[in-house]
Amino acid sequence: MSDNPLQAMFARHQGRLLTKWLHYLDVYHRYLQRFRGQACTLVEIGVFHGGSLQLWREYLGPQARIIGVDINPQCAGIDEPGCEILIGSQSDRAFLRELRTRSGAIDILIDDGGHRMDQLMISFQELFPAIAEHGVYIAEDLHTCYWREYGGGFRHPYSFIEFAKTQIDQLNARHSRDAGSFSVDGFSRSAASMHFYDSMLVIEKAPLPVPAQHARGTPSYPDPNLKPMYSFNERYNAHLRDQDLKR
Ligand SMILES: C[S@@+](CC[C@H](N)C(=O)[O-])C[C@H]1O[C@@H](n2cnc3c(N)ncnc32)[C@H](O)[C@@H]1O
Repeated sequence: MSDNPLQAMFARHQGRLLTKWLHYLDVYHRYLQRFRGQACTLVEIGVFHGGSLQLWREYLGPQARIIGVDINPQCAGIDEPGCEILIGSQSDRAFLRELRTRSGAIDILIDDGGHRMDQLMISFQELFPAIAEHGVYIAEDLHTCYWREYGGGFRHPYSFIEFAKTQIDQLNARHSRDAGSFSVDGFSRSAASMHFYDSMLVIEKAPLPVPAQHARGTPSYPDPNLKPMYSFNERYNAHLRDQDLKR
């Protein structure tokens, strides 16, 4: 992205230490720019030395509530004005539930913690439901899904990336014809889109109406297979043309 303020902020950052893969900056900006200057809540799992909390503050602005989560108790000593730092593990369900209570609806969740499969999964299970109606869930460094020492491996049945692939089905579950084995769940109802990038998954939430197919235009040739909606559409178009003629 040629005009990415986050990239510029990262390039000139002189504050606390932070690490980001450079291509993440475009992905972040693509999904997070709508939150800039807004009152929103960002939770980042993985505080490290606190630099990314500073970056988010600069990028999102003074109205953002920024919560950092880390297992390392030394992070508690990072006194970053306007940022809350909670110490606990992202694989501890009780801790994550406490976090949910404290944070309220989360607009932006960035999972940049331990990157182990159990950590990615438990955090997703506990925190995705806490994402605001129009919020966004970002899991990064997903290359660990292919690494055995993180509990992953290529097509490993319990890798987070394999789980994410099954969520693509859930995104489409309203079209299921296999109700016994494949049906709408909370994810189908709340997730609007999933975006896969190198090492990153972004899931945007948005309440979606029940999918409805409409048709516009008139058939180009006699087609006995056209569904009734097309004949309705023809009638509707004729009605519109009539109205035009009356104007
Ligand atoms: C890659 S660093 C985070 C980098 C930081 N977000 C940045 O952009 O500079 C990963 C952090 O996750 C923390 N971490 C590791 N396992 C964790 C766990 N189970 N729960 C919470 N944090 C964890 C580590 O202590 C470390 O600070």
